[in-house]
Amino acid sequence: MAEIVIVQDKAVAGALVADHIAGLIRSNPETVLGLATGSTPLPVYEALRSRLEGVDLSRVRGFALDEYVGIDPAHPESYRSVITREVVEPLGLNPSLIRTPDGTPEGIEHHGEEYDAAIRDAGGIDLQILGIGTDGHIGFNEPGSSFSSITRVKTLTEQTRRDNARFFDSIDDVPMHCITQGLGTILRARHLVLLAFGEGKAAAVAGAVEGPLSASLPGSAIQLHPHATVVVDEAAASQL
Ligand code: GLP
Repeated sequence: MAEIVIVQDKAVAGALVADHIAGLIRSNPETVLGLATGSTPLPVYEALRSRLEGVDLSRVRGFALDEYVGIDPAHPESYRSVITREVVEPLGLNPSLIRTPDGTPEGIEHHGEEYDAAIRDAGGIDLQILGIGTDGHIGFNEPGSSFSSITRVKTLTEQTRRDNARFFDSIDDVPMHCITQGLGTILRARHLVLLAFGEGKAAAVAGAVEGPLSASLPGSAIQLHPHATVVVDEAAASQL
């Protein structure tokens, strides 16, 4: 059973998780972070800024969860751009040690295996930050994803494309495919920290934490993890 922490608001959640991550990095300058995009983890990245001042970050490594396929890496909404803008630059991480799955068509077939191998070679992810989609996806593992899946190309659901259309000019500009760490990849991280805020996430959170283990709600995979923490506000916890 995941540990559930219900907090007053996003800022408190961000501070709590950021304190924990800063502690990890202080005790191990080679910490390997699993980075998530979406709006949910932003308060964590924001709170980390003040907590990492003066800390040696030159050896901190990071692996993003996912990326759109076929998007120009320089597009402002590519996850590589988002991670650079929201995490690498404001925190002052070493950009050469922060990786995002490669969503460009060249070599994508083998890229998933290479990405998982790179995570293994780095010693595995110490702490994986996760948000959750309204359909229960984690990373971009949409309903139907195998619990043992590795990093691979997936098709985005209509609902996810609609949810993410707010970051693009129109839904037609939202890519149809993505490359995402698999549920099996995510489960290999040593600690999972899933955050969720707002009523729109309540059903997904309840399914992930208390629902049956089911590929139709990929977030329920966290129940298989021995060290998972779920940090939610009251609205997101309202169906627990
Ligand atoms: C996106 C990302 C996920 C994220 C989810 C929720 O599609 N691929 O990693 O958790 O959607 O997004 P948000 O945090 O903006 O609600």
